[in-house]
Amino acid sequence: MNKSDFEVLLTAQADAIEDWLEYYLPDLSLEEGGSATKAARYSLLSGGKRIRPIMLIQTALLYQVEESVYRPYASALEMIHTYSLIHDDLPAMDDDDLRRGRPSCHRQFDEATAILAGDLLLNTAFEIMLQSLDLSPSTRDRQIQAALTIAKSAGGQGMIAGQCLDLLYMQEEITPSQLIKLQQKKTGELLSAAVSAGAGLGGAEREVLALWRTLGLALGQIFQMTDDMLDITSVEEVLGKSIGKDARDGKSTYVTVFGTETTRTLIRQKTEEVSEIIGKLRREGLDMDFFESLNVYLPGRVK
Ligand code: IPE
Ligand code: IPE
Ligand code: MG
Ligand code: MG
Ligand code: MG
Repeated sequence: MNKSDFEVLLTAQADAIEDWLEYYLPDLSLEEGGSATKAARYSLLSGGKRIRPIMLIQTALLYQVEESVYRPYASALEMIHTYSLIHDDLPAMDDDDLRRGRPSCHRQFDEATAILAGDLLLNTAFEIMLQSLDLSPSTRDRQIQAALTIAKSAGGQGMIAGQCLDLLYMQEEITPSQLIKLQQKKTGELLSAAVSAGAGLGGAEREVLALWRTLGLALGQIFQMTDDMLDITSVEEVLGKSIGKDARDGKSTYVTVFGTETTRTLIRQKTEEVSEIIGKLRREGLDMDFFESLNVYLPGRVK
């Protein structure tokens, strides 16, 4: 897939996802808890890259999963991700004023509303996954497994653990292996859940699922290495979030642990590793063109 076809695909999918999210989180009146809903919609419907749900969809499509089946899982994953961003930006955590090119949720509304908006998104994610459990027994099992994969990736051994380590290691000198663990949990698990849930919905065999998980984690590493680099190399207008924030907070990142030159080299090495995993999945008869393009896009992304 050439670069422009890939970018057209990303935009088209992001537009479709935006519509689904709008549908799954309708506006409510104030008497119905509308203030949290309004804040959740503000953060959710504000044009993120939607990379996690797109990865889920693209994997599910390789297994001919129907849209009605993968749609709730893709939407739920993006809701969980957006909740994590709302809470990540709170003063008690990264204290960030800018998100997706706009004031962060607690800046636009207030802290209490932002906390509730995050809680609402997390709960809605599980509501829509559970609601989607279908009557066909074979699909139902796969759907339960997909929901479990997503739950675990966001939970106490996944993203939450990563966020705990991120805070624990502030102002500390950590080892490369501590950093890799932090990043795998903070970012890798959710990206890995995207492809694992997509392949799981399609009934992939255990060994192939293991390959998908490895691929997701490697892509997650590239994703967070690039995020750490962009924090120092990008500009606010392009990135849509504040620049130089990690250093100001004394965060342990790829940049602080390895330096920028080594991080660039590590990103290159990881993309080679990803190519090898893609090769293995190709040998399983899967058309991996999208992921090959993703492996070029992620290290080169500017936002
Ligand atoms: C930002 O995620 C948080 C990280 C895990 C680095 P994204 O870069 O996917 O943010 P959006 O969804 O596009 O805004
Ligand atoms: C956050 O990582 C990852 C989450 C689980 C939300 P960062 O704190 O580096 O993400 P940004 O840079 O604020 O998007
Ligand atoms: Mg953070
Ligand atoms: Mg942050
Ligand atoms: Mg960051």
